[in-house]
Amino acid sequence: MEPHLLGDPERWLPAGSLEKRLVIITDKNVEKYYGNHLLNQLINYKPLLLSFPPGEKSKNYRTKQTLEEEMLRHHCGKDTLILALGGGVVGDMAGFIAATYMRGISYIQIPTTLLAIVDSSIGGKTGINTKQGKNLIGTFWHPTAVVIDMNCLLTLPQAHLINGLVEVFKIFITSDKDSFNEARHGIHKIMNRDFSTLENIIQRALKIKIDIITQDEKDNNLRMILNFGHTIGHALEKIMNYTLLHGYAVALGILVEAKIAELAGWLSAEDYQSIQSVFLNLGIAGSQLKKININTMMSAIKIDKKNKSGQARYVLLNGIGQTYRDNGAFVHAVSDDMVKKALASVSEA
Ligand SMILES: NC(=O)c1ccc[n+]([C@@H]2O[C@H](COP(=O)([O-])OP(=O)(O)OC[C@H]3O[C@@H](n4cnc5c(N)ncnc54)[C@H](O)[C@@H]3O)[C@@H](O)[C@H]2O)c1
Repeated sequence: MEPHLLGDPERWLPAGSLEKRLVIITDKNVEKYYGNHLLNQLINYKPLLLSFPPGEKSKNYRTKQTLEEEMLRHHCGKDTLILALGGGVVGDMAGFIAATYMRGISYIQIPTTLLAIVDSSIGGKTGINTKQGKNLIGTFWHPTAVVIDMNCLLTLPQAHLINGLVEVFKIFITSDKDSFNEARHGIHKIMNRDFSTLENIIQRALKIKIDIITQDEKDNNLRMILNFGHTIGHALEKIMNYTLLHGYAVALGILVEAKIAELAGWLSAEDYQSIQSVFLNLGIAGSQLKKININTMMSAIKIDKKNKSGQARYVLLNGIGQTYRDNGAFVHAVSDDMVKKALASVSEA
């Protein structure tokens, strides 16, 4: 992780890359900002650059097939190295292509959004959406390396900075009270993109995430705590037809799922208010849930990946920096009544 890494690919390309077929996969926005720049830096490698329209709506079978057919048309073989240059959409798509192309080729994640830096580029989850929901088709496939050029954050729209900050706070809220408090107090510097403050919280969040993934790579248990806020968050994204940014949906999900813990008596009112005030500083208020019909929400929750026997399950807090664990389980069933109560309470605040 450093500024200007994109301008110096020799520092991060693996040995032997000159013998490889390099394919940059990116979206049309990132292509404009950084794709052509990277292409120029890699001129000696004669890379192929493939791009697709930006946004969640492109993360589907059709885009995957188009990119793969382009790679086949250009005779890309098993020795191909994909450079996934972009946000989480590019990373998930390029990673999934790398996982299945010729039964698996190597790839490097070059995340350009804060969300991709702290979340999607780490941990090897790849995949695409279908009309039934997000990320329903995919696999685990780890990148050879993750290259973070902090300078990319300079062009990131503020809404996408906030989108990533929610993931950082999610990690701290579940796992590290000190970092939560430090980031909470430095929120104005962070929002103004003070690089050293940003780097500090990114390093801390990455350390925690890597530690969790190392303990539970395949999402069987501990890794599920990274889904905090996601049972409600994913349902909200689906109801809003993916027009709400992932992080904003997760933030509202965190407020509801933290409220469930407060109603259950596990999280103090004071801790709940600290979480609420962080999100207010990011411009996210629980009252935004007012426009959501509670019954529509309850139905949408029923098709979450964490469900067991049709019952929705939640990561719940036991305080800031701590998740509730019962008999070794990190996700828990909650009665519909309790969820409805939490939803109503958060949207009234
Ligand atoms: N694999 C995982 O573990 C994991 C984890 C979390 C989220 N995700 C996935 O990540 C996706 C969301 O990722 P995202 O928020 O990065 O969205 P994104 O990839 O759509 O990027 C957001 C927007 O910012 C633009 N952009 C990217 N970098 C930029 C830059 N440096 N400057 C200016 N514009 C830039 C993109 O073109 C796009 O329009 C979702 O599909 C989600 O499911 C995956």
